[in-house]
Amino acid sequence: MASATPWTKSDWRAKPRVQMPDYLDEAALNAVETQLGKYPPLVFAGEARTLRDELAAVSRGEGFLLQGGDCAESFSEFSADNIRDTFKVMLQMATVLTFGAKVPVVKIGRMAGQFAKPRSAPTEVKDGVELPSYRGDIINELDFTSEARIPNPQKMLQAYTQAAASLNLLRAFSKGGFADIHRVHSWTLGFTDIGDAERYGDMANRIQDSLDFMSAAGFAPGKTHELEQVDFYTSHEALLLEYEEALCRLDSTSGKWLAGSGHMIWIGDRTRQPDGAHVEFCKGVLNPIGIKCGPSISRSDLKELLDTLNPNREAGRIVLINRFGAGNVADHMPKLIRAVEEEAHPVVWSCDPMHGNTIKSDSGYKTRPFDSVLREVQEFFGVHRAEGTVPGGVHFEMTGQDVTECTGGVRAVTDEDLSSRYHTACDPRLNASQSLELAFLVAEELSSTREALRAAG
Ligand code: PEP
Ligand code: CO
Repeated sequence: MASATPWTKSDWRAKPRVQMPDYLDEAALNAVETQLGKYPPLVFAGEARTLRDELAAVSRGEGFLLQGGDCAESFSEFSADNIRDTFKVMLQMATVLTFGAKVPVVKIGRMAGQFAKPRSAPTEVKDGVELPSYRGDIINELDFTSEARIPNPQKMLQAYTQAAASLNLLRAFSKGGFADIHRVHSWTLGFTDIGDAERYGDMANRIQDSLDFMSAAGFAPGKTHELEQVDFYTSHEALLLEYEEALCRLDSTSGKWLAGSGHMIWIGDRTRQPDGAHVEFCKGVLNPIGIKCGPSISRSDLKELLDTLNPNREAGRIVLINRFGAGNVADHMPKLIRAVEEEAHPVVWSCDPMHGNTIKSDSGYKTRPFDSVLREVQEFFGVHRAEGTVPGGVHFEMTGQDVTECTGGVRAVTDEDLSSRYHTACDPRLNASQSLELAFLVAEELSSTREALRAAG
């Protein structure tokens, strides 16, 4: 039998592609690809492998995944304060989850690479003028002019630079003392809701008490290395394959290919065609791969995707990110869970309660009602309790900023409030207060689901 030709990082070019720009100036594109190809990768193979091990533990119920960040990172909103505040909220949420559900939390930002966006329509019409859609700052610009909407390959270099600077700061925050659990009180952001801030404060006091006890018992800071730093990973949708290919590197230790653009990458709900370009690229890299699963995914699509992307059924390789919309989870998830169980594919089941719950508000803004987000999370846990399977994680679009993009929450953002601080370049994000409120709910759901799974043996 002839041996199959080995995968190469350019094979995706021969496959049908969707949601990618047509660059007009091929020479300019090639020059950027050559330049990016010489730059250092942003992440290293050993880190992606460690993340896979941690996700393998999550798939067995020995951990929980918290993935979150902007819908789309933007060049204009790039600042140390923005990164710090999103990082702080994620630390707070992870602490709430670990404290409430007694599980280690794997933290992955939608950060340092989340620049390209799939769009529901190729063009946008305003006042009778039709222009190509905005596709994220790595591709074109949000301004509604024909000039701004031309895909410009140079933007990949700016995205790389911003991703490198973001990752540098995140590594410093994770390892340099900021994320030390002894600082649990200092992660609070001024504007979180009084109720949740108090709840968080009470929890932080209890953690502080335990730390004081440990220190009195001889585990002084300095001897508690594990408590003084965290692992924080990065992720984004691998949409712009020219950028992904240019940062793809051969790992000399394993002889395998690494997507050097981020620790984890995912395939969007619009680009998961089993024989398409995006699946082709992702199948050859060693990183953990997310697959967005929306209402249109069939059991057979999912089986085919799993066989293609994880033929050896390795735990920690695949995260299924479910996004069906509140009210729809019970119609879709049980049959997918059974298909995956039948095939004995180890996966992490994660819930994205954002993308199935986007509506247009009366005031004209794209928003997400907090109640629908909450409800989808509850439905997700409910299905896992009923099926006796492991709820592995959550995936949120969120920010540490005090924005008004999603309606509801205890600080009740109304339709009329949306215009006051609506900063997203793409989808509406949970603000810090809504994120923390959600973390408390997830902790309760997770803890009762784990209890039920243990009782069922
Ligand atoms: C996203 O995560 O921003 C996104 C576009 O999601 P989906 O592919 O699930 O629609
Ligand atoms: Co989005």
